[in-house]
Amino acid sequence: MTETKTSENRPSEPRNGVIGRPIDRIDGPLKVTGDATYAYENALDGTAYGYILGAAVAKGRIAEIDTAEAERAPAVLLVMTHRNAPAQPDFGPAVTPTVPEVFTRARPALNSERVRYYDEPVALVVAETFEAARAAAGLIKVRYDEAPGVYDLPGHKADAYAPKRTNAGFETDSVVGDFESAFAAAPVKIDATYRTPFEHHNPMEPHATLAAWSGNELTIHTSAQTLANFRAGVASTLRIPPERVRIVSPFIGGGFGSKLIAHADTILAALAAQFLQRPVKIALTRQQMFANAGHRAEMIQQVRLGADTDGRLTGIAHDVWSATSSFEEYCEQTAVFARSLYAAPDRVTRHRLVPLDINRGEWMRSPGEAPGMLAFECAMDELAERLGLDPIELRIRNEPAQDPERGVPFSTRNLVACMEEGARRFGWVRREPTPGRTREGRKLIGYGMAAAIRPNYIGAATARVAIDRDGRVTARLDMTDIGTGTYTILTQIAAESLGVPISSVKVELGDSRFPRTAGSGGSWGAASAGSALHNACNALKQRILEAAQSSEASPLRGANATEASFADSEVRVGQQSAGLADLIRRIAPAGFEAEGSVAPGATTESYKAYSQHSYGAHFAEVAVDCDTGEIRMRRMLAVMGAGRILNAKTARSQIIGGMTWGIGAALMEQTVLDPRYGHFVNHDLAEYHVPINGDVPEMEVVFLEEHDDKANPLGAKGLGELGVCGAGAAVANAIYNATGVRVREFPITLDKVL
Ligand code: MOS
Repeated sequence: MTETKTSENRPSEPRNGVIGRPIDRIDGPLKVTGDATYAYENALDGTAYGYILGAAVAKGRIAEIDTAEAERAPAVLLVMTHRNAPAQPDFGPAVTPTVPEVFTRARPALNSERVRYYDEPVALVVAETFEAARAAAGLIKVRYDEAPGVYDLPGHKADAYAPKRTNAGFETDSVVGDFESAFAAAPVKIDATYRTPFEHHNPMEPHATLAAWSGNELTIHTSAQTLANFRAGVASTLRIPPERVRIVSPFIGGGFGSKLIAHADTILAALAAQFLQRPVKIALTRQQMFANAGHRAEMIQQVRLGADTDGRLTGIAHDVWSATSSFEEYCEQTAVFARSLYAAPDRVTRHRLVPLDINRGEWMRSPGEAPGMLAFECAMDELAERLGLDPIELRIRNEPAQDPERGVPFSTRNLVACMEEGARRFGWVRREPTPGRTREGRKLIGYGMAAAIRPNYIGAATARVAIDRDGRVTARLDMTDIGTGTYTILTQIAAESLGVPISSVKVELGDSRFPRTAGSGGSWGAASAGSALHNACNALKQRILEAAQSSEASPLRGANATEASFADSEVRVGQQSAGLADLIRRIAPAGFEAEGSVAPGATTESYKAYSQHSYGAHFAEVAVDCDTGEIRMRRMLAVMGAGRILNAKTARSQIIGGMTWGIGAALMEQTVLDPRYGHFVNHDLAEYHVPINGDVPEMEVVFLEEHDDKANPLGAKGLGELGVCGAGAAVANAIYNATGVRVREFPITLDKVL
């Protein structure tokens, strides 16, 4: 094996430069001391409190709603239902055509007597206190005309239809060559069907909004991943110009996709605040989150792999049937990664949707790869066993020279290096290929691995950066920090670019008055906002240099700026140098300001010319109790090739978080939809199981040194969600290796391995 350069992601000696160093989160002290203000904590004079009442049926209409008693209850200010809610457009039109309409369309609430999903808002009570609002909501009497609904994906698979596009704008189907013939002729094949359940994301901070009007101007403090989406969605729903809506979201208690768009808390707070001419606060309760903040849809996935006896894939088919809502389509791009991962001449991927009477699915951490790789990378493991090949060797034999469906080169692709480095570090040679053979007392031990791939998205972003006469730098953009470390990496980018200490840099985020970015989502945040800031800093340096050359007062007057550098709080031009603050004081006491931008990746030549993804390899060791079936994680390792790492500590945290999601998907997470009533039965964190500390083993994360100069000016690529991709499959494959039981219905609970 060739020697691979890696960057250990434990805190280490700083290398040259500030970017990449594992510095602590800039916002950490504010958060742990309670000084970071979250949406619901904002205090405005006269704030009233809202409480949403949800529908008790999943489909039908409100025949009668009696609010009299609630209206008479103490401290109640307003009871809003479809009868008195301000008119709102029904899903449209979007006011911001530059982003997909799904992000910006009107999202009306309480605008109709119809009920489309269980717990859909049917009333809002606003009172002087939260308790009064909640108590009054319990006094509302609703009679429904209930209609029979459809809640069963497998039972209605025959009703499936092909959507026009999947999420993120991918083609619904891809066909290369003739898969069916290749599969029929293949000497070795796998035809396996996997099921993945409904899953729900639950950021620690639920969706929450404080809305306040000042004349025509609406200010919304909320928990948002992408401010521009919220602004456009609110403007579309309230039919006001987006310029009159200000979204403020400087601190966010987690966001896994559901905070990409505004939900009922935001819309209803804005409407009620307008109605009452008072600020109104609304938070979704934890239980309301399950019905009203999206979910990952239940899916059936059929993976067919044909191979020759040497383990070279001749055909790949990945077919997905996914639940969707009957009123608004969401098609997760579950099979899209399979278009780029392995070589094979004949291939097909297809997405089909089955409409159910539930709320719409939404983006949930690694949409697409999370469920898709859970199935596909298990199928690869099944194929390896049938071939008598090591799973890593199988993947190496099918490493494509270029993107197998697009026919373009990869920008950087270090999947094989990730697998080899991981195998070495994990002690993969100790894996017993025959399942069920490694035993320690009552425990069966197994090793599993899986590949990881995640597309590199870049969203349109602009940043503004200013430097004052004391050399203090302020960067402003409407980017968000959902806990991922955005404040920190942006500080590092500005500090390194301008050659100033990080203590001289202040990054201000989370206000729609700042230049617009794509926010945090789809793992595009760091590279998009970071590249915009990088470009803004370059523009700022250019401005400073031009003035330094031409200004009478400049010690660098007439210097040749093509050799200029900014480092150690100095500007150096050839042999000459000047202190940065001193220079600015002399030439521009008011300081300098500049903006920089990046264009959406999909519009760039580089995207057309190169297949751009982040890659990785996951390894897992499990122990399964042979009497009880209890599955315990013992170790996990991820080796990642994700471009330039901007902060080794926050990057590692992202991957560890993703690996933990992998454990959840493999072993625990599942929301059960009641087939009779159409509600999610286990709609709280007592019964929706996620891995807790005791479930999570020692995790190691290693980054290969990489710089993707095709991806963006920083050379960084998305990695937030990469940690999820394939992590669950590595766990599932380890369970198979331990027990010889292949469970194709997730999550793998202990009853299924016995
Ligand atoms: Mo992403 S689905 O916004 O974590």
